[in-house]
Amino acid sequence: MKQANRERGVVIWFTGLSGSGKTTIAHIVEDKLIESGVPIEILDGDVVRANLSKGLGFSKEDRDTNVRRIGFVAHLLQRNGVFVITAAISPYQSIREEARAMIKDFVEVYADAPLEVCEERDVKGLYAKARAGEIKGVTGVDDPYEAPAGPEVYCKTDDETPEESAQKVIDKLVELKFLER
Ligand code: ADX
Repeated sequence: MKQANRERGVVIWFTGLSGSGKTTIAHIVEDKLIESGVPIEILDGDVVRANLSKGLGFSKEDRDTNVRRIGFVAHLLQRNGVFVITAAISPYQSIREEARAMIKDFVEVYADAPLEVCEERDVKGLYAKARAGEIKGVTGVDDPYEAPAGPEVYCKTDDETPEESAQKVIDKLVELKFLER
């Protein structure tokens, strides 16, 4: 069983389009981390938007506010030794870099699948609404997504299973000594 380095929390920061697999992989990573006995919190975009960021929309300004809030709370938890998993689209590189600079113990995970694959999955019906013209400013359709330049973990989620992606994250945490084998 892998043992935690208990002094040190970490933020595992997922980024990617809606439907790219962030939440699915995040929950598998959580299950794997539970086995190691580390304290864990997940800050999921949809959950945060229903609570901490209630009332915010999807303009650049509101997204930045949402993502900064996630970064702020993640940092508070991480510095108390918590393994924090964030799973918001977090489309803008500069705001993710801001979070990285503040947090430092930061592992960025890029969940990458082509827009067409995310659209096919369309778990929440988001893309159907965008294509029908019912909503505007959907990330990847008519709103920007800036892919990370150097994520610690790259998951090509149309080619690998969620389990494989989650294992890559765990392997990286071991490599970076956030977890011991
Ligand atoms: S972020 O851009 O601020 O990081 P976040 O991950 O919190 O986004 O929220 C994304 C979720 O909000 C999507 O999974 C989807 O369910 C919903 N949503 C509603 N409108 C939009 C939109 N215009 N663009 C992206 N996601 C949207």
